[in-house]
Amino acid sequence: MLFSVFIGCSSRTEKKKKEISVARENYYQEKYRPQYHFSPEFGWMNDPNGMVYYQGEYHLFYQYYPDSTVWGPMHWGHAVSTDLVHWEHLPIALYPDSIGYIFSGSAVVDWKNTSGFGTSENPPLVAVFTYHNMELEKKGRNDTENQGIAYSTDKGRTWIKYKGNPVLLNPGIKDFRDPKVFWNESTRHWNLILSAHDQVKLYSSPNLKDWEYESSFGADAGAHGGVWECPDLFPLKMEGTDQHKWVMIVNINPGGPNGGSGTQYFVGDFDGHQFTPVSKDINWLDWGHDNYAGVTWSDIPEKDGRRLFIGWMSNWNYAQVVPTTIWRSAMTIPREITLKQENGNYKVQLNPVKELLKLRMPNTEINITDLSVSNTKLIRTVPLRLACSEIIIQFQAEDKLSGEFGLILSNRQNELLRIGYSDTDNKLFVDREKAGSNEFSPKFEGLATAPYNIEKYVKFHIYIDVSSIEIFVDNGELVMSETYFMSSEVNKLHIFSDGGNIKAKNVIVRELKSIW
Ligand code: FRU
Repeated sequence: MLFSVFIGCSSRTEKKKKEISVARENYYQEKYRPQYHFSPEFGWMNDPNGMVYYQGEYHLFYQYYPDSTVWGPMHWGHAVSTDLVHWEHLPIALYPDSIGYIFSGSAVVDWKNTSGFGTSENPPLVAVFTYHNMELEKKGRNDTENQGIAYSTDKGRTWIKYKGNPVLLNPGIKDFRDPKVFWNESTRHWNLILSAHDQVKLYSSPNLKDWEYESSFGADAGAHGGVWECPDLFPLKMEGTDQHKWVMIVNINPGGPNGGSGTQYFVGDFDGHQFTPVSKDINWLDWGHDNYAGVTWSDIPEKDGRRLFIGWMSNWNYAQVVPTTIWRSAMTIPREITLKQENGNYKVQLNPVKELLKLRMPNTEINITDLSVSNTKLIRTVPLRLACSEIIIQFQAEDKLSGEFGLILSNRQNELLRIGYSDTDNKLFVDREKAGSNEFSPKFEGLATAPYNIEKYVKFHIYIDVSSIEIFVDNGELVMSETYFMSSEVNKLHIFSDGGNIKAKNVIVRELKSIW
């Protein structure tokens, strides 16, 4: 049976309605379709936008072009969830207009109705985004990107663009975009951070409409292999203390840790005007190829207290040519960000949100307490849907190793994905070189590595989906997110060590439920 999804007027120039047919019985069952990650029903998706929590709903907006599976005139697509796991698709929230395409940005609850768009009984949701004007770009102008706002007084179901847009004008900087807004309780004003070519700029406002420049940061800090995009800034409590520090996220493309897009962060202090980093060194939030443009949710209730993050699980090096069918791209699983201090160094950790426990299927668990592996590869066939599963495994080196150990996920065609640790150069790795299709782009690189020191143990918590893998090492000390495109689903799990004796301990493999 077929049913049709009608795409409304997605832009002024594209008035014609377009029909895309989706086989109902195959809904979210296409080849490579993620089973528990968010992906759009059809069309092109990039960055997550406007994440905000309001009245029991987590909103997820996203850069969206419904008329094609490659990037085009940007809209804000929209979905909501009550548990961060199951998502309901909602109509497009923001369409491009005469001022420009709707690029990335954020949303907040204006609790005190400082904008006047709602009332104090019914505070408005206010979205702050970048208008990107293609006409000006074609003329070679630098001021193509300006910031606009829109509001909703019906729980984000409909959005009205502010008549006075744009509200924050470009001072003549080519890349001037991706505003992230937050209320600053200590100064009792709004702050806005946006990217300005290879640094960030900070602004303040009493009402989300009138913005005043405060300061810039980053010209002499962090990585500079590409343009800075999609920044974020928020306070985070240091684990085990009552003190907090401010964490600044800065996405960068290209120039990521394994090529192409990547996400760096800084830890420091922020007084509502200026950000002062503890260190200007480079820190990567995720070492894989496929976690970009991620920022955090606004307005998570205090009694929850978490800082929740989601990223776009792709990389500008190849995002537009990956071999998916009616849609392109997915988001990462939602993650909780925490901060710890170790010998004067601050470290941000990412871990899967606890809500994902809901996905565990009853009676589909494989549990192995102790498995000795020496040199030879030990192969286990797993009687569950490995392509939609979670693996927790701890490796213990029996003696000094001199080689690699880890896991291999493979399929009927013997395509394989290797995840492990190399003791010779002290690096964690994910190797997708032989994991199926990669001919679509020479930039779809096989190997991602990350420097890491292991004393005796290392623990991997792995989320496998049909075309992605996310590895959380030692409870979030290091994370790697990778996409892969195999001819058929992975159905075999191998554990290997080619440089000495290791023990795989407390191995748990669990099938996860599909959310679609
Ligand atoms: C990041 C980005 C943003 C921009 C958006 C356009 O992936 O380039 O800087 O706002 O995508 O779609």
